Amino acid sequence: MDILSLKNVTAGYGTITVLNDLSLTLRAGEILTILGANGCGKSTVLKTAMGLTRVTGGALALGDKSITATPSHLRAAAGLGYVPQTRNVFQDMSVIDNLRMGGYLRPKQFEHDVEEVFALFPRVKERRRERAGNLSGGERRMLSIGLTLLLKPKVLLLDEPSSDLAPATVDIVFRAIQDIHTSLSIPILLVEQNVNKALEIANRVCVLVRGREALDAPAGEIDTRHLHDLFMDGGVRTS
Ligand SMILES: Nc1ncnc2c1ncn2[C@@H]1O[C@H](COP(=O)(O)OP(=O)(O)O)[C@@H](O)[C@H]1O
Ligand SMILES: [Mg+2]
Repeated sequence: MDILSLKNVTAGYGTITVLNDLSLTLRAGEILTILGANGCGKSTVLKTAMGLTRVTGGALALGDKSITATPSHLRAAAGLGYVPQTRNVFQDMSVIDNLRMGGYLRPKQFEHDVEEVFALFPRVKERRRERAGNLSGGERRMLSIGLTLLLKPKVLLLDEPSSDLAPATVDIVFRAIQDIHTSLSIPILLVEQNVNKALEIANRVCVLVRGREALDAPAGEIDTRHLHDLFMDGGVRTS
């Protein structure tokens, strides 16, 4: 079953076109990773799914419902959970109050739901009374993923969740992504620069070159040497 689909989407910002006639489908039970050089349009795919770009062609659907014309603020309620690369948590609020904000749609279930987040990220539980502005980069990343999970999304869109993190924290975040996928059964559209980690975790990989799909294949069939050819500007790490 198709969970989230972009069909022949052309999108960008103002007069700039970034995605050119792009078709991409996230299926049930899947982690689909988008790879590509810096500036090729990976973040723009996620922003387009969230309604944050100017779409000039094509169609988007969540399950069997068209979201092409759905305003951005209603897409979260429709089931799209989006974790931008630099999510600003509410710096001046405590961690637990940040989580309460994430759970505003289900206040009665909060105490139950938040335990799910704490199980994924014990560190967030330890720091729950801390001011969010005092968290480390890794803790803040965990909190921002947790906040989004409290919306009970049908799909999770993650933009470079491992960027700028220490290796030990990268491992924690990737393990959590795996758990979100398997234990919580949420399909994930993942943008990553860490190719090896992304290939380990993904079911399928889509490579973008200048806003177009250059490759769509099961993760196990990807030849990393071929990836190098596709990332001509060297914007991607493979080790
Ligand atoms: N808000 C914006 N306004 C204008 N151009 C943008 C904006 N955001 C991104 N771009 C441009 O769109 C292109 C794709 O950006 P992006 O999707 O962020 O790439 P990636 O995530 O693959 O590095 C780049 O050329 C970038 O400069
Ligand atoms: Mg990006």
